[in-house]
Amino acid sequence: MRALTLTFAFASALFFTAACVHQEANQAPAPVKSYSFEETPAELVGYRDRAKGAFEAVGKRLIPRLTGALAEGGPAAAVKVCREVAQPLTDEAGKEVGFAVGRTSHKLRNPANASRDWIKQLVQDSAGRKGAEVKPMVFDLGDRVGVASPIVAVEMCLQCHGTDEQLKPEVKQILAEQYPDDQARGFASGDLRGWFWAELPKK
Ligand code: HEC
Repeated sequence: MRALTLTFAFASALFFTAACVHQEANQAPAPVKSYSFEETPAELVGYRDRAKGAFEAVGKRLIPRLTGALAEGGPAAAVKVCREVAQPLTDEAGKEVGFAVGRTSHKLRNPANASRDWIKQLVQDSAGRKGAEVKPMVFDLGDRVGVASPIVAVEMCLQCHGTDEQLKPEVKQILAEQYPDDQARGFASGDLRGWFWAELPKK
């Protein structure tokens, strides 16, 4: 009998704990609504376009540095450029426009590029897709606007993000030293490699 009562008490404690957890989940931050670029509501279009401009600016600075380094010193030397330049360049572009800009992926090389909360679901749902199958998105985050735009792998990227056979031994060695938890391998041309993201405060 006592055992039974205890079991009941335990079960109800579990029930109430579960109820509490559930309630907390319901009190999560402001609801996130998301839109494709074409369906962006008029009041968010300005934010969308500012983010788009920032993504283009980052790409325009990053790609020549990367191709230049590849041509000059080959992929092993270019890894160093990528490591030292990509992050500061992206941060700098964000500072210039006055909002946070970054890159993320379902398969990360640099743990500093981990996804912010609002983009996690998109990153997870689009993992393993082709670039052509996904679209840029706008997120209404309440007091902020989030914008995400796909980054697609092209042939050139595979020297550092391709299969084991495509990576030169010296590239593998540098990656092993610099990024012991590297996940950003095994991509093919046309694959979704990751996302540019921006987070803009609403005015
Ligand atoms: C020379 C080697 C090299 C080449 C070529 C290269 N990358 Fe990278 N990539 C890196 C390194 C190293 C990092 C980690 C440093 C960083 O940027 O934070 C990285 C990081 C990234 C990230 C940030 C997410 C993460 O995993 O940390 C994205 C997105 C990315 N690369 C996409 C590309 C695309 C797209 C191309 C082709 C246009 C490309 N890369 C070409 C070496 C390379």
